[in-house]
Amino acid sequence: MLDPRSDDARRVEGLWWVLFWISCAVVAVVTGFLLAAARRRRGELHVDDEIDRRPVSWGDRFVVIAGAAVPGGILAGTFAFSLVVLNDMGSADRNLEVEVEGHTWWWEARYPNGAVTANQIRIPVGETVELALPTADVIHSFWVPELQVKKDHIPGADNRLSVVADHAGRFRGQCAEFCGLQHAHMEIIVEALPPDEFDDWLRREAEPAPEPDGADAEDGRRIFERASCAGCHTIRGTSAEGTLGPDLTHLANRDTLGAGAVPFTPEALDDFITDPQDAKPGVSMPPTELTPDQVDAVVAYLMELE
Ligand code: CUA
Repeated sequence: MLDPRSDDARRVEGLWWVLFWISCAVVAVVTGFLLAAARRRRGELHVDDEIDRRPVSWGDRFVVIAGAAVPGGILAGTFAFSLVVLNDMGSADRNLEVEVEGHTWWWEARYPNGAVTANQIRIPVGETVELALPTADVIHSFWVPELQVKKDHIPGADNRLSVVADHAGRFRGQCAEFCGLQHAHMEIIVEALPPDEFDDWLRREAEPAPEPDGADAEDGRRIFERASCAGCHTIRGTSAEGTLGPDLTHLANRDTLGAGAVPFTPEALDDFITDPQDAKPGVSMPPTELTPDQVDAVVAYLMELE
């Protein structure tokens, strides 16, 4: 978050540094008083039974000023500054709306042209993208530190946030609200592409899956459609239309499996299908009932889904 890649992120970074230095000053001053008090009181600790009857002293005034007025002033000032920064954020008009739905423990992204993907979204550089953040189950939190966007997915709430990336690049995000066993493996990658590249990608992403190329992949597709895979996953252009798990239409364009649990490679895909509970314990996907040869064929097919 100290390496901001958008205007909003820079605003929050500025606020962060102001709060950081104020905190440092408060810690230094309080530590100084504590040390001074510890030195003075050493050897003279006793209960002062005159305390209620003595006149107002400088010590009493100090408690009121340093204990109430100074913290009150600092908190009011930083609160006002936070409001100003918040008010400046996300004020640009949006050019694109993407729905990013939280699931235990992955994300589904839907674009207006029908493209559906998971755990890795792409946005055009320099354009304001509005993210709608529904949830399919519990509370999650969408957080991409370098873009400084963070907002909770709350059941029943229409939470939205705006994001602009002013550099191309890949920005790692992470669910920031504890949501169960695999909360740590609920990663989202936001990739900012130059607008031309983004338009190309978005157009291809909305297309149905490519036809299988070769006997293995053809077998794999048939097995996928007939086995339990199709009960939970969609591959557009085939008869697989399940909605419990991620849409796999263009799976091979993703960098990870299981929302960051393992890197996307044929071996990891094979292991994931064979025993998902090993790669990501607690995940909804059950161990496969397919034979190793059938799994190989399914992997051959899925690896072609670019
Ligand atoms: Cu989703 Cu933590």
